[in-house]
Amino acid sequence: MNTDKIALVTGANKGIGKEIARQLGQAGFTVLVGSRDLARGELAVKELLADGLDAVGIQLEVTDEKSVRTAAAQVESTYGRLDVLVNNAAIIPTGDDAASRIETGVLRSAFETNVIGLVGVTQALLPLLRKADRARIVNLSTSLASFAQVGDPESRMSTVLTLGYNSSKAAVNMVTVMLANELRETGILVNAADPGNCATDMGGWDAARTPAEGAAVAVRLATLGEDGPTGEVYAEEGRLPW
Ligand SMILES: NC(=O)c1ccc[n+]([C@@H]2O[C@H](COP(=O)([O-])OP(=O)(O)OC[C@H]3O[C@@H](n4cnc5c(N)ncnc54)[C@H](OP(=O)(O)O)[C@@H]3O)[C@@H](O)[C@H]2O)c1
Repeated sequence: MNTDKIALVTGANKGIGKEIARQLGQAGFTVLVGSRDLARGELAVKELLADGLDAVGIQLEVTDEKSVRTAAAQVESTYGRLDVLVNNAAIIPTGDDAASRIETGVLRSAFETNVIGLVGVTQALLPLLRKADRARIVNLSTSLASFAQVGDPESRMSTVLTLGYNSSKAAVNMVTVMLANELRETGILVNAADPGNCATDMGGWDAARTPAEGAAVAVRLATLGEDGPTGEVYAEEGRLPW
């Protein structure tokens, strides 16, 4: 059995997820690069291997229970445990819109990937996280999920009219808090990371931050010491208000 620390990042074939995978690799982890399209994942793996990192592709479509089960079985048979899970995969669904206008099917698709997919992946991998010594779970969130920020009419966050994305990520925050409560006695720390607006397919290519800068906060939460926080959302500048 491999004795290195093992991390799995969902949606790691591009964007912030790929940079989280890279930085965890640089921190000494064997990184499982989750990708719904294995060929796209293998391109990222190739890049990470060329950088001298230990990366392995794993097919993982978070909305497909069979794919999730198969990935978990693969991690179990190869490594027997999982030290870090980063739930990074997410979408802003096509047609995302204001609360007064969004089509309910669009809202449903945001929850399907961003919340139900995330919970399904976490539940499938939890037995393996429990087998690790003090595992860490990091869920990618956003300031668009902050009631305090979206609720402030002076905030730029109040002008972004994407109910599907914002409300599904607010649900991710609640998943984070409730799972942290459940796992408090186990030593497993569960936190959410807001990478800030980063230049990716999702964030828009004119965003000020690089995906690597966005990845850093998630990596910090994935490598917290024993006395680290749990059930919180952090951005680079510190704790985010709910
Ligand atoms: N960029 C920002 O400004 C920003 C700000 C705040 C929070 N975030 C959060 O940071 C995370 C990464 O965002 P990003 O900007 O890197 O986005 P991105 O470039 O669009 O990448 C998203 C990743 O998620 C994958 N994905 C989407 N649906 C999936 C599914 N059903 N199953 C498996 N993988 C799936 C994508 O795979 P494909 O390549 O196959 O589509 C891709 O690998 C997200 O959780 C996002 O909400 C981003």
